[in-house]
Amino acid sequence: MTAQTQPRELLEEVVTSVDGGVGIVRLNRLKALNALSYGVMQKIVEAFEVYERDPSIRCILITGNERAFAAGADIKELENATVVEMASSLQMERWDRIRRISKPIVAAVSGFALGGGCELAMCCDMIVASETAVFGQPEVEIGVMPGAGGTQRLTRAVGKAVAMDMVLTGRRLDAKEALAHGLVSRVVPLESFYDEALKAAHAIASKAPMAARMAKEGVARALDMSLEAGLAYERRLFYLLFGTEDQKEGMAAFREKRAPQYKGK
Ligand code: CAA
Repeated sequence: MTAQTQPRELLEEVVTSVDGGVGIVRLNRLKALNALSYGVMQKIVEAFEVYERDPSIRCILITGNERAFAAGADIKELENATVVEMASSLQMERWDRIRRISKPIVAAVSGFALGGGCELAMCCDMIVASETAVFGQPEVEIGVMPGAGGTQRLTRAVGKAVAMDMVLTGRRLDAKEALAHGLVSRVVPLESFYDEALKAAHAIASKAPMAARMAKEGVARALDMSLEAGLAYERRLFYLLFGTEDQKEGMAAFREKRAPQYKGK
């Protein structure tokens, strides 16, 4: 089969699709275990930004395949990079753009989530992991260290002791350990990891969009604020929701014992 005759999906390293209110991004760089090349990262960001702007999309789902979510940044691309190239490349900006996505993002992770792959999963708001998922920050083994948030997000998620072990020795966590240490939200059988993650994404998409967005922001900000400041911040977000039609609709629907019809207004 030549490149021209291959199905389109085989040629696309990042495949997007929409399922109801969920915008799906699937990493499809099979032979390189979904290594996050500059091109792949750019496509992920572009897809996220399209979903961010589309009012019909209320939650984003990112996934890989059973063998790998992503095995990290593309080492072959990085091998000969200089400090100046690294500092002036747009790669880190792409990570910042993912952080600024306001809609909830669910990661459906199976197999390797290593280095940048683990960091990408941690950028998401919820991780649904298959029993075969493996999380690690093995950069120290190739002469570097995590560079896309690994030392910061991992430490906030699992605490200093486990983060130091992972970052300094390259130790990987299996799915059960990742759950026990608070890195993932759910662990489910391999056969159903994608469906369970999609179900979670649909559950989020069925909520009032502004409420989901503000709730995401509140939890995310908890990690970098004092309790005092965080509580004040949360209160302002909470008050703000009383300016939405969806708050009136949600509470009226509860009183009238019917399903709410949210409009994102
Ligand atoms: N970059 C580029 N290619 C990669 C890759 C990566 N991160 N990870 C795997 N691949 C490629 C391999 O080179 C191989 O390709 P070829 O067949 O062309 O040689 C293919 O994927 C399959 O990999 P393996 O043959 O190694 O498969 P395995 O099952 O024996 O091992 C693995 C799997 C343990 C994940 C191993 O591939 C591995 O250790 N990968 C690197 C993991 C890593 O170090 N990640 C961190 C990268 S740096 C980073 O992410 C920096 C940051 O913070 C942003």
